[in-house]
Amino acid sequence: MTTKIACTNQKGGVGKTTTAINVAGALSERGHDVLFIDLDPQGHATEGLGLGQAYESEPPHLGTVLVEIGEQERVNDLIYEHEEMDVLAANIDMFTLETDLTGAMRSRERLEMVLDELEYEYDFVVVDCPPSLGHLTDNALLACGNLLVPALAEGTSIRALEILYDQIDSLEQGYETTIREVGLVANRVETDGEAEEMMEWFEATLGDQMPIWEIRKRVALKRAWNEGVSIFTHSEECDMEAVYLDIARYLEDLE
Ligand SMILES: Nc1ncnc2c1ncn2[C@@H]1O[C@H](COP(=O)(O)OP(=O)(O)OP(=O)(O)O)[C@@H](O)[C@H]1O
Ligand SMILES: [Mg+2]
Repeated sequence: MTTKIACTNQKGGVGKTTTAINVAGALSERGHDVLFIDLDPQGHATEGLGLGQAYESEPPHLGTVLVEIGEQERVNDLIYEHEEMDVLAANIDMFTLETDLTGAMRSRERLEMVLDELEYEYDFVVVDCPPSLGHLTDNALLACGNLLVPALAEGTSIRALEILYDQIDSLEQGYETTIREVGLVANRVETDGEAEEMMEWFEATLGDQMPIWEIRKRVALKRAWNEGVSIFTHSEECDMEAVYLDIARYLEDLE
């Protein structure tokens, strides 16, 4: 059984990519086989895993197997080997996917169709989502059935979460499925009054439904990204490794 997790929040710059890379890195560190999928046409994770050349490559690529019905099994030839995990890289052509999928058959089930064709059975699939609630994010939510929500510890997160949960409700109703919020990752937390207030709000509002992890602002996370690896392969010690490992352990116990 593969556990699939989408890293989702339509708000930009909250730490989806940082969370996805380092949670995938933590799962790999704990001995799991991980497939990382960069579903964001911006390709930040692809870059952050040192696969910049894949982002610029000619088709076929991830966009091809998402958009062309009948081509899904080609996914097996598109997987890159990173030292910590396997990667389905984003490609610059994926910027047209939202328009390409609009009105197309099974437009929100394409990633699920692609994953069904994987020949290798991974322990975990981790999907980095774009900062929008379009077809790509819907594809990730439906294919994974689990989501991890990175959010900043600031007031703007409240509306972002309301909008995200509304979208999940409508997908659940429309597709008669369950999409589980496995946890919230408060990210880039600093020591200030607003962050403390928001951490209390997260606990009070969501604390009885899901775990809330706190990732503090750490320059080592940026440096690891610039090196094309997660914090676990990066040479520098970082106290946030323990939190990512906690998240990994929690994900291991999901049914
Ligand atoms: N805990 C952290 N400490 C320090 N820097 C961080 C942390 N989390 C994220 N950053 C930095 O903040 C910026 C935004 O983070 P990231 O790209 O992960 O967010 P995102 O939600 O994926 O953005 P987008 O919406 O554009 O996809 C990046 O430059 C990243 O390196
Ligand atoms: Mg991102």
